[in-house]
Amino acid sequence: MTQTDATDAQYLADYRPYPFILSETRLTFDLSPDATQVQAAISLTPRNGAADLVLDGGRGLDLVSLLIDGTAPDASHVIRDAETLTIRAAALPDRPFTLTSVVRIDPSANTAFEGLYLSNGMFCTQCEAEGFRHITFYPDRPDVMTVFHVTIRSGLPVLLSNGNPLRQKPGLAEWHDPWPKPAYLFALVAGDLAAVSDRFTTASGRDVALNVWVRPGDQDRAGFAMESLIKSMRWDEQVYGREYDLDVFNIVAVDDFNMGAMENKGLNIFNSKLVLASPETATDGDYERIEAVIAHEYFHNWTGNRITCRDWFQLCLKEGLTVFRDQQFTSDMRSAAVKRISDVQTLRARQFREDQGPLAHPPRPDHYQEINNFYTATVYEKGAEVIGMLKHLVGDDGYSRALDLYFDRHDGDAATIEDWLQVFQDATGRDLTQFKYWYTDAGTPRLTMAEDWQDGVLTLRFTQVTPPTPGQPDKPARVIPIAVGLIGPNGDEVAATQILEMTEAHQEFRFKNLGARPVASVLRGFSAPVVLSRDIDDDTRAFLLAHDSDPFARWEAGRDLALSALTQLARGQAAGDGYIGAIGRLIADDSADPAFRALCLTLPGDEEIATRLAAEGHIPDPDAIHAARSDLARRMAEAHQDTLSDIYDRMAVEGPYSPDAEPAEKRSLRIAALGLLNRIDGGDRASVLFGVAGNMTERMAALTCLIRLGRGESALAMIEEQFADNRLVMDKWFTVQVMAAPPADAVAIARDLAGRRDFDWKNPNRFRALLGGLAANHAGFHAADGSGYDFTADWLIRMDAANPQIAARMSTAFETWPRYDPNRRAKALAALEQIAAQPGLSKNTREMVSRMIAAGA
Ligand code: BES
Ligand code: ZN
Repeated sequence: MTQTDATDAQYLADYRPYPFILSETRLTFDLSPDATQVQAAISLTPRNGAADLVLDGGRGLDLVSLLIDGTAPDASHVIRDAETLTIRAAALPDRPFTLTSVVRIDPSANTAFEGLYLSNGMFCTQCEAEGFRHITFYPDRPDVMTVFHVTIRSGLPVLLSNGNPLRQKPGLAEWHDPWPKPAYLFALVAGDLAAVSDRFTTASGRDVALNVWVRPGDQDRAGFAMESLIKSMRWDEQVYGREYDLDVFNIVAVDDFNMGAMENKGLNIFNSKLVLASPETATDGDYERIEAVIAHEYFHNWTGNRITCRDWFQLCLKEGLTVFRDQQFTSDMRSAAVKRISDVQTLRARQFREDQGPLAHPPRPDHYQEINNFYTATVYEKGAEVIGMLKHLVGDDGYSRALDLYFDRHDGDAATIEDWLQVFQDATGRDLTQFKYWYTDAGTPRLTMAEDWQDGVLTLRFTQVTPPTPGQPDKPARVIPIAVGLIGPNGDEVAATQILEMTEAHQEFRFKNLGARPVASVLRGFSAPVVLSRDIDDDTRAFLLAHDSDPFARWEAGRDLALSALTQLARGQAAGDGYIGAIGRLIADDSADPAFRALCLTLPGDEEIATRLAAEGHIPDPDAIHAARSDLARRMAEAHQDTLSDIYDRMAVEGPYSPDAEPAEKRSLRIAALGLLNRIDGGDRASVLFGVAGNMTERMAALTCLIRLGRGESALAMIEEQFADNRLVMDKWFTVQVMAAPPADAVAIARDLAGRRDFDWKNPNRFRALLGGLAANHAGFHAADGSGYDFTADWLIRMDAANPQIAARMSTAFETWPRYDPNRRAKALAALEQIAAQPGLSKNTREMVSRMIAAGA
């Protein structure tokens, strides 16, 4: 029905520099909830002679006055449309001049949380990607960079902006940011806030004041965020040689925030769930995420802020690199093996899903309609994987020389992916022409491997094919770094890891002078984001699970065994004994670290099983998948009851809670054991644990177990009673009861919850808690009667009118609809068409929904 309208797309090929150079932006805010006045004085110089001055800014800006060097231009030279304000060249001087505008805006009516808005009485901003145009008329594009000088007038006690403070007195604050920056990095916060404060001295001796600002009363939950910030600052100095460059670094936690967090220069703004943590309210996973996101936003100070993007097509230049850096940081802080395995799990669950469906696009797209729809797993996670491959290809030394050159050559620039690759070519001498396809092509390559053994020579034959994606039918062969090691029959490694560089569609590699036939361990560390299939039997997988020295490959062997059993079970075949035996040997091995064993014990989720079935050419049946998974889990528990029970008891951590890696890893193994035992102990352990656990990690795990068995009621009531006033805990409370519900009940439970007074759906966290909880219940969302689809569609329509970014993002619940049976397809398509038919639907949601509908045509 609705086709993607090519006319409102933006194209990379259309890039032109802005015809004016900006040298300074002076902003003055008179804050008031429904009538804030913003004065903007911009110093401009025409770049090459006469040109119209086109500023971004739409109908939400109420223009009060406009002056050029103090004089109002003739009205006939000023043109406004729905998205811009243009001043004709005829009204502009041909030398440097200052444009001063005054506009009025209404933060209290801003439910989209883009631009300047109010959250719990606090003013705050979100400008990336194109929010600044909702604050004032401005060239809102990342290649226009200036120094900002900001004055805030307000009766609120804490008034913050970017850079260094100049003047602070009651009712007024002035800030100056000496580092030229694009408007998307602008931020302002004003409110009644309290700080946790500390100091940091940089390697060259700069003394930096650090503050984490929260609502008064929340300071006792902000300490971990501060510790994480200090660790991040130290790490970036030690590993990348990057120092902080202002006198203050502020972090602010807000409750209403579309994303996780934002790297505004010197004033990072965070979703409060990524700042606030205490043992009673946050899980180990929350702590780890907080540490990683604080690091991520801090690392943007160099990769994103000092070097920014020329245009939004280059988004992965800052996001892919910064994700790569935060992943490195977490591997240094915690277990590198566990981090790699969980990153691959996320990549597969989110990016492979995207890359294999209607929303596939390259890490560097060449067109888009709505930029907010391109903050995707492909830009972020695949963007990071591509850097990991580059590092494999040029080596650790080459990587660090290239990065030094990048910071040296491009500091202060708005750069491109071409600049980035050039730096690697210049620093290492390696030609990256073919490598660039990783940035410009969509789709996950399928890598097939066959083996041949003859006269002491092992030959590995690889074939690569990248399936077509929307708009890209044919794909050239890519460079694929394949990390391979060989393991002898007795389990010893006979060839250490080496990188095979595949550059052709078909290619073979030989290993000579081998005594006995080894087992190849392939794609170690997941050295490339591809789908590997090889002819391998379950015994060989079990052998790798027992002996591989590479933790990722070892885990992957177990994963493959599990998936092979689960897909067979879901198709009505008997399977699983081999897997259950192999897992038994692994979990009894106390020399393997707890978190690794926990990962191996946790079965793939329903969604992952569905994906594997679809990849093998079957139509996934959500109910059969759910039943298969329950069956295998119960059999694992029965077979290993004693070992699991022993693990459960021994992994209890004594003493006060610490979010550090070691105790958290023990808890993760304990919880994995509990999840299995819960299938056979009637919930007895979970119910005891819920009562005695002193930390949220174990309480949530116990609660999840009880809900699975339909025994969650009193535990849910206890949480509600204890934490009714804690939004973050109540978000978990909403999520878990839908996510862990028996699939047949999930939609009804979600409906009930949506009717509660505290279902404050305009709060993005609360909306995501409920709708995301349902989307995570695979067989519940895909209920055969279409109720999951209808419920979700109704709420997306409602949310779209208030907050298009959130509605568009959550619409990806439908991303995989074409792979299901005709009945479900028809119902999902009807739900998507209902959304598409909605009058006044946002550009954000329209683009997503029409791309998804087009895929089923
Ligand atoms: N720059 C983004 C935040 C952002 C994205 C703002 C899109 C506006 C639109 C920030 O650096 C980011 O990437 N945040 C992530 C978390 C991060 C750890 C991957 C987020 O918000 O989810
Ligand atoms: Zn980022």
